[in-house]
Amino acid sequence: MSLDQFINDMPKVELHLHIEGSLEPELMFELAQRNKVAIPFKSVEEVRQAYNFSNLQDFLDIYYQGMSVLQTEQDFYDLTTAYLKRVAAENVMHTEIFFDPQGHTERGVAFGTVINGITRALEDGKNQLGVSSNLIMCFLRHLSEEKAFDTLKEALPYKDKILGVGLDSSEVGHPPAKFERVFAEARKEGFLIVAHAGEEGPPEYVWEALDGLKIDRMDHGNRSLEDPKLVQRIVDQGIALTVCPLSNLKLCVVKDMRLHPLKKMLDLGIKATVNSDDPAYFGGYMTANFNAVAGPLGLTRDDLLTLTKNAIDASFVSDADKAKMHQRVDKFALSA
Ligand code: ADE
Ligand code: ZN
Repeated sequence: MSLDQFINDMPKVELHLHIEGSLEPELMFELAQRNKVAIPFKSVEEVRQAYNFSNLQDFLDIYYQGMSVLQTEQDFYDLTTAYLKRVAAENVMHTEIFFDPQGHTERGVAFGTVINGITRALEDGKNQLGVSSNLIMCFLRHLSEEKAFDTLKEALPYKDKILGVGLDSSEVGHPPAKFERVFAEARKEGFLIVAHAGEEGPPEYVWEALDGLKIDRMDHGNRSLEDPKLVQRIVDQGIALTVCPLSNLKLCVVKDMRLHPLKKMLDLGIKATVNSDDPAYFGGYMTANFNAVAGPLGLTRDDLLTLTKNAIDASFVSDADKAKMHQRVDKFALSA
């Protein structure tokens, strides 16, 4: 079996996916027409040409503009279903999905519209496609602490549908400490905690995410490697990192895939995982992300299996469900 085939067939787990970042240009156009929302592009090709970013903010500007076509519960259902169909075809067993409620409530779409559309699709995805999932609500860090508290309050009636809370959007200038009190409250309410840290922001932000927010898992974390004491802490605590190779390349977090820190993370004993972040904007889903690093970093089949097993261990599912997923991967490894 070729390495390509191995990557394609390997059962996978995704832990870092913004559902709004799976909005493909074709669906963006369809929803713009359906909802009579104006978008500043004439064609799908023109949209794709605009996806040239030199940093995180460049991308976020287009990402928030893109999500303006999402208006109704059916739109959120269609968006989520399209993502689940793509990853089911890539042998993804389980996915943990971020959504950005403030990206919608700030422009007048009700919280319930967003969450009901997404969760109805997740239930159908489990039943019809066999992809299990958890949902994580992110606070937009460029907005105020007060707005994050308002959003947490809005989420409470839907607590049974949301497993965790996270922190995303413009990192530099918006350290985790800004949201320490919101996350303390979220933790009290029983939510699991993740946060984007060390994507563009310095190692100090990663320390704050660990000590201040008390994260259960870290999103990105690339810049942790600049601080050996921080690496030791991450290894000792067994904190997993949700690494996103194509995102890192497209947002110029790394200059060249051969310089990507993923292999170094594994060598240091960090529980790294591979994820797609915003696949419609960065050029691919799970398989594309594994392919993007396998060659340039010289990853072995054992490395690829380790990455998947790390993702199973770092997922927010029961031990019994983790065991079932490990069995599927072990069976695949024996047959490959
Ligand atoms: N929102 C969507 N994708 C993001 C990323 N890679 N970093 C921060 N915020 C995001
Ligand atoms: Zn992200």
